Amino acid sequence: MDKNSAAGSRLVELRDLRVAFDGVQVLHGINLDVAKGEALGLVGESGCGKSVTWLAALGLLPGKAMVSGSVKLDGQELAGGPRSVLESVRGGRIAMIFQDPSSSLNPVLRIGRQIVEALAVHRSLRGEAARAEALRLLDMVGIPDARRRFDLYPHEFSGGQCQRLMIAMALAGEPDLLVADEPTTALDATIQAQILDLLIRLRKETGMATVFISHDLGAVSQVCERVCVMYAGRIVEEGSVADLFAAPRHPYTRGLFDAIPRLDGGRERLIPIPGTVPNPKHLPKGCSFSPRCPRAEDGCREARPPLLALDNGRKLACFNPVPPVAKTAVRIVEEALA
Ligand SMILES: Nc1ncnc2c1ncn2[C@@H]1O[C@H](COP(=O)(O)OP(=O)(O)OP(=O)(O)O)[C@@H](O)[C@H]1O
Ligand SMILES: [Mg+2]
Repeated sequence: MDKNSAAGSRLVELRDLRVAFDGVQVLHGINLDVAKGEALGLVGESGCGKSVTWLAALGLLPGKAMVSGSVKLDGQELAGGPRSVLESVRGGRIAMIFQDPSSSLNPVLRIGRQIVEALAVHRSLRGEAARAEALRLLDMVGIPDARRRFDLYPHEFSGGQCQRLMIAMALAGEPDLLVADEPTTALDATIQAQILDLLIRLRKETGMATVFISHDLGAVSQVCERVCVMYAGRIVEEGSVADLFAAPRHPYTRGLFDAIPRLDGGRERLIPIPGTVPNPKHLPKGCSFSPRCPRAEDGCREARPPLLALDNGRKLACFNPVPPVAKTAVRIVEEALA
């Protein structure tokens, strides 16, 4: 059965997920659902907590990290449970791929063997069956001439091909959810586009849900149906890509759109968000975005706006949101991508 037909039912639920390093809180209570088969984007500037959210959920943070909250997979609690439960989930039901292939591919093992080992661990495949499945996966992710290249080492592949190899490894466990953390940032634009197409195609073919973490709003709009915008360790806006791109309401989201470089040379229209993401050690009082926000009022510097539900599954944490605008952000993005 196509897993997409079950879309809408919850696969992963994060509740009040918090992370602190050395007594400094960097994640302040994330609530997030991923439905079966859906593609969810997570965007925000560097240091907002996108990676930490999923590393915490999958138990991949170093021991010094203080993690609390609930992480449920199909209703089963993973947080605080035995290591063995998380280990069987990781790479099995949930796979994660990272920006840097070297963090997941072992440089001294031939790639065929690495995929065969993943198949043994997650699907108990051995011998010829494992080899045949590894070749099928390599073919699926678009590694040309897979049979001949089966016994090569990672350094014998290009950056884009290494990214494909990592995706093949991730698919070895037939995951229900693939978390792709900035999978294309290190690649040139053409290869980037190919990897995005691959992620879109694989999701269609396998029905797995995807969490796509990216700085690139254009890429998010291609891959995802829904998007969460993070700022300083919190979700500040959430909604379907169609709604949120048509009318971003949080001034931070609006700022992200305005900061997209434009290909038509309209430099004057590229407006970077002033200032930088605050140091988690010294978060401003009130709304964390208020010191950078063109719409901030006195109240915004005193109290922190809660994330409230609006219509159509949208959520927003802002006391003075952007009114719906005539020139929609979706057009801005379309023009930037044209
Ligand atoms: N291992 C760690 N030890 C201490 N602090 C950490 C560690 N990992 C992340 N942080 C801090 O947690 C915060 C969130 O980091 P995170 O890596 O989630 O950001 P991000 O949104 O993924 O950014 P980027 O877009 O640059 O990948 C940052 O302030 C970062 O410095
Ligand atoms: Mg990151």
